[in-house]
Amino acid sequence: MTATPSASTGAFKERREEFMKGIQGGAALFASAPTAVRNMDVEFEYRQDSDLYYLTGFEEPSCLAVLVPDHPQHRFVMFVQPRDDSAEVWTGKRAGVEGAISDYGADAAFTIDKLDQELPGLLAKADRIYYRFGANSDADSRVVRLMRYFQRERQRKGAGPAAVIDPAGLLHEARLVKSASELETLRRAVDITCKGHAAARSVIKPGVYEYEIDAELRYVYAKYGSPRHAFPPIVASGVNSTTLHYTSNRRQLQKGELLLIDSGAEYGYFAGDVTRTYPADGVFSKEQAELYELVLAAEEAGIEAVRPGARFVDPHNRAVQILTEGLVRLGLLKGEVSSLIEKEEFKRFYMHRTSHWLGMDVHDVGMYTIGDESRKLEPGMVLTIEPGLYVSAYDQQVEPRYRGIGIRIEDDVLVTADGRDVLSSGLPRAISDIERTMRV
Ligand code: GLY
Ligand code: MN
Ligand code: MN
Repeated sequence: MTATPSASTGAFKERREEFMKGIQGGAALFASAPTAVRNMDVEFEYRQDSDLYYLTGFEEPSCLAVLVPDHPQHRFVMFVQPRDDSAEVWTGKRAGVEGAISDYGADAAFTIDKLDQELPGLLAKADRIYYRFGANSDADSRVVRLMRYFQRERQRKGAGPAAVIDPAGLLHEARLVKSASELETLRRAVDITCKGHAAARSVIKPGVYEYEIDAELRYVYAKYGSPRHAFPPIVASGVNSTTLHYTSNRRQLQKGELLLIDSGAEYGYFAGDVTRTYPADGVFSKEQAELYELVLAAEEAGIEAVRPGARFVDPHNRAVQILTEGLVRLGLLKGEVSSLIEKEEFKRFYMHRTSHWLGMDVHDVGMYTIGDESRKLEPGMVLTIEPGLYVSAYDQQVEPRYRGIGIRIEDDVLVTADGRDVLSSGLPRAISDIERTMRV
């Protein structure tokens, strides 16, 4: 189903070993994502926590992975749901403790109800615990109880964990720079995303409902093996395109409007994230084209600014410069470009950032700033470039012909040794290419 190698032998083990090199003397705990009730007996679709998946490949809920690099026998221990024939009739086969060892490479495994019994002994010799609070409140409370226990133990025995440290500094830095096999999976997620977008584009016409476009995305993603969206798709017609995270997707597209599609497939736990904006009738109006060309120029300048050694903030600064110059040229902003940028006046029309990291999480992990400096880009990092312009339908200060227009163009860009690779470049974005593809 996924392009990632098998759990016990492949990339997961390598990732664990690499991570464990950085936590010697300590131990790390990774909890599964919690389940959530949707209504009555129905739960929200389950997706494993990205960190836990990255290190184990394990997709079941109610699991805790423990890494103790200096433990003489049990460096990787899993606590999992027990095998249970009657529960498995309803929800499918579980790995159980046997599967955790044979299929996922654990040195030892216990059922999750043995946690309080087994965990203190496993961690007794560690001097610190790596754990990230905030994603699973049950696991959070357990860690607090555990540390309370070790406070007393330390007093008596003079040893044991004395601190809880966020593993992000090590683990998320590793996730930020993608390996060759991770890039292969991410490229596949972006390819499927582009296939979905192309299918969605082909059904655009006045009268179509946003949910019909949404359905094309869902169908094509699923058809090519994507188990789920990377985030709820944004299919925003007309004035909805000025709502940045519009997801209700219920409106009917009208003649003369734009349709903004921001969507990504997930594949092998990696996310695509691409945005295109199309004219309902296959041809941009004058005002739409003016704003579109501006966003496209900002995007191209942003993409050009991606290269090793450039700062993360450089594409954003380039995009803001070009957008602000253009807004002045078109009369939507008045004044000196430098002062409009300094006072952030452009935020009336461009209120979000140009980039975020892309990976297992659509807004992926990894630091954006190191010390006081915007981070330097390195080969293997992937980021989006996604400038936009959003003119409120109610903005009395702009000419009525521009009101209610929302445009975003978003591509997924890999930093390479000598520059960049636009992973989503197969999906047309120049006006002439869009108009041509919409004619056929
Ligand atoms: N789709 C969310 C984003 O572009 O960041
Ligand atoms: Mn997006
Ligand atoms: Mn994005």
